[in-house]
Amino acid sequence: MSRIIKTNNLQFNYGDKNILKDLSIDMEKGLFYSIIGPNGSGKTTLLKLLANILPSTKKTIYIDNEDIHNITKRNIAKKLSVVPQITNINYEFTVLDIVMMGRSPYISRFGKIDNKDTDIVMKAMEETGVIHLKDNKVTNLSGGELQRVVIARALAQETEIMLLDEPISHLDIGYQYEITELVYKLCRDKGITIINIVHDLNIAMRYSDKILMLKDGKIYRYGQPLDVITKNTIKDVYAIDVEIINHPVLHNQKVIVK
Ligand SMILES: Nc1ncnc2c1ncn2[C@@H]1O[C@H](COP(=O)(O)OP(=O)(O)O)[C@@H](O)[C@H]1O
Ligand SMILES: [Mg+2]
Repeated sequence: MSRIIKTNNLQFNYGDKNILKDLSIDMEKGLFYSIIGPNGSGKTTLLKLLANILPSTKKTIYIDNEDIHNITKRNIAKKLSVVPQITNINYEFTVLDIVMMGRSPYISRFGKIDNKDTDIVMKAMEETGVIHLKDNKVTNLSGGELQRVVIARALAQETEIMLLDEPISHLDIGYQYEITELVYKLCRDKGITIINIVHDLNIAMRYSDKILMLKDGKIYRYGQPLDVITKNTIKDVYAIDVEIINHPVLHNQKVIVK
């Protein structure tokens, strides 16, 4: 397996306040990563640094073995797409307009959308199950539909990495699994490296190849789901008592709160 992301003693401060401390992480191509940790532990900050939305120090973040500082913004957008925590779209864009925005790194400033862009956008909408909504205004969509549209936009960007910041937090339990299944499929079928911030420990346990658990801006654990999510780590990081039990149907492990 080849390495796709590396961080090297990554630090981040907001003003005087140190937020992330010495994060050194390696991520491999094509795997499903989850980032977990309490509110304020630095998950979103880490994601924004990886996406170059927040500035990092030189020689701390490498994508495809290249220092992120040496990659142009346009080329970063060709490697890495972002599904943000909250997508505020106030304009009356259609679903097609929004998904087409995923093509912007490939279209020059005065360039035109060509047939290839349209084909990619149509395919992205098919794969995410929003093609029937293509002429709808995004302001009229349900939360689950909007999230699919934002994932379609990321897919149309044709990146090898997709970063998602709590894509299911505002959704009901049905949509939570539906969206996570969709993202998991993109990982397995298309080999897209997924980095997914999630609060639901059972979803993290069930879908992740590896989990990064943050506490106070530091790596608390990084590894296989069953090594990261344990009675003790959950007690330490979230201050609650849980039991890890066998799922009666799926026979994988499941977290229940005591
Ligand atoms: N724009 C900002 N200015 C100052 N502090 C911030 C800002 N954004 C986040 N923080 C602080 O950084 C810490 C980590 O935040 P964040 O990365 O959003 O955590 P998480 O996503 O894990 O909830 C928190 O203490 C938060 O209050
Ligand atoms: Mg966050």
